[in-house]
Amino acid sequence: MADDLTIAFVGAGNMAGALIQGLIRTTTIPSTHIIAADPDQARLDLLESDLAIRVTQSNDAAVKSANVVVLATKPQVFGQVLPGLASSLQPGTLVISIAAGISTRTIERVLPDGTHVVRTMPNTPALVGAGATAVAAGAYATDEDLALAQRLFESVGIVVQVPESQIDAVTGVSGSGPAYVFAMIEALRDAGAREGLPEATALQLASQTVLGAARLLLERGEAPEALRQKVTSPGGTTLAGLQALDDNGFRDAVQGAVRAATRRSAELGQMAEGSND
Ligand SMILES: NC(=O)c1ccc[n+]([C@@H]2O[C@H](COP(=O)([O-])OP(=O)(O)OC[C@H]3O[C@@H](n4cnc5c(N)ncnc54)[C@H](OP(=O)(O)O)[C@@H]3O)[C@@H](O)[C@H]2O)c1
Repeated sequence: MADDLTIAFVGAGNMAGALIQGLIRTTTIPSTHIIAADPDQARLDLLESDLAIRVTQSNDAAVKSANVVVLATKPQVFGQVLPGLASSLQPGTLVISIAAGISTRTIERVLPDGTHVVRTMPNTPALVGAGATAVAAGAYATDEDLALAQRLFESVGIVVQVPESQIDAVTGVSGSGPAYVFAMIEALRDAGAREGLPEATALQLASQTVLGAARLLLERGEAPEALRQKVTSPGGTTLAGLQALDDNGFRDAVQGAVRAATRRSAELGQMAEGSND
């Protein structure tokens, strides 16, 4: 990764912290080329002492010295953060947003004309380097901008490129997805405990089973249908379990979750758009 990048993070919370750690761990970007801005001085002190990055309470100061700016505050404060950045951005700076529900159009309308904006949707496994992020180009972003955003987020997991119209669906699948998997693990733990396992043992087995199944799928490159069939013998235990899942509407429940989260993401985006008019 180019050593001439200086990356400013506006907002230095959980996701920004994960990304900064990933960049330092897996790229050649010097830690002194990363600057984090946040109102919370204690958080900044921790980032400075742990990761030797530059820190400031001033968004303006951070953005002035950067050629890539990552917008990493909660979406609710974008309305107050963005106007302040408009006059500090260097010409040609790439602006990458990680905020749920804020469109590139909403950002572009506040920043100087022609600002290159890339919107992303990461997820919380980025905190352990196993994230899934989608990146989407705004109106003025180039292929090089997308490629750079992709490389940055690859430091905390896998990255896919999508048109922005698909970001709500990404939110429904992988943005909110970790919570569905946690719900599945909770259900496995509780069900295991009801069948007589100690709760802690059931939780350990359930968590490792989800991790192991996902790794098997990704590392073998086989379709999930093929792997499922391989472990399902006629008259066996897995078939009995799968039939009970089907009888209880498992697939419909998952589809319903993705549909509801996708729609909610679109609604939140429309509300953010309206509040910036
Ligand atoms: N966490 C997820 O699962 C996830 C997944 C995908 C996308 N995202 C997106 O990632 C973004 C950050 O989420 P997060 O979980 O990292 O939130 P977070 O931990 O709350 O981080 C946000 C940080 O921004 C700071 N901040 C507040 N106002 C600010 C301002 N005016 N200027 C600069 N910094 C300011 C906050 O400080 P204070 O705490 O002092 O207010 C906080 O340290 C959100 O937009 C979210 O939609 C999160």
